[in-house]
Amino acid sequence: MILREDLEEAVHYIRRYYQGNPETGIVLGTGLGELVRHITVEREIPYNFIPHFPISTVEGHFGKLIFGKIGGKETVAMQGRFHFYEGYSLQQIALPIRVMYMLGVRTLYLSNAAGAMNPDFKRGELMLIDDHINLLGSSPLIGPNDQELGPRFPDMATPYDNALQAKAKKIAEEENIPLHKGVYVCVPGPQIETRAEYRYLRNIGGDVVGMSTVPEVITAIHMGMKTCAVSVLTDECNPDNLQPFNLEEILAAAAKAEPLLTKLLTRMIAES
Ligand code: HPA
Repeated sequence: MILREDLEEAVHYIRRYYQGNPETGIVLGTGLGELVRHITVEREIPYNFIPHFPISTVEGHFGKLIFGKIGGKETVAMQGRFHFYEGYSLQQIALPIRVMYMLGVRTLYLSNAAGAMNPDFKRGELMLIDDHINLLGSSPLIGPNDQELGPRFPDMATPYDNALQAKAKKIAEEENIPLHKGVYVCVPGPQIETRAEYRYLRNIGGDVVGMSTVPEVITAIHMGMKTCAVSVLTDECNPDNLQPFNLEEILAAAAKAEPLLTKLLTRMIAES
């Protein structure tokens, strides 16, 4: 359970080093690392200094909050995100998102790497997330609800803001960036899906599958933020011709798509 005092302590610590009011938040998942170079950095704070922030499990990769401007817009970016499969609770994953809200963030952009199950989608392409299916078997909102943070039963009719989606489509067209639209299924991982699981996930309405983003989006909606999320399609998940999962190929596909995603999101933020 998230205690408001924990959130307030985290915000209070950050406020000692940064006094701005970022309206825009970014979770730099796979495919957005390069975006950091487009931030005019004002302040960086490693996660491990911030009270109650999850401690990174990956040695040498502490992760940090980056405060600065993108296209003139005050922004806070999470460099390094937390995954359920690393052993964090969903409440821990939610905490930095709640802190961002308390710092002023009202629009949250997220990216991730995902496997393409829709046969029309190809490796290296981008997909705007229009909706999701949460198969984590849990929620970051489990436990007593703090009504001051958000409602007990947050509405999930349109978790991904329609106006932001329309804008993403328009910018993608102007920039000649192919941009699919579809449903992201979130699984816990870390094992990759079996052929039977890919068939199942496709049958229940998934276009792509991945292991992140959904807990953050649920939290953002709970607090009343708008969200916009894009998947980089890093592998093709055809159960009838399944290739072995190759992490190098996945990372290479993500790296190739990164400039496109960076272009799309920097324009979206600058023109918001
Ligand atoms: N499955 C789950 N997560 C993923 C995949 C996948 O095929 N590709 C990238 N992230």
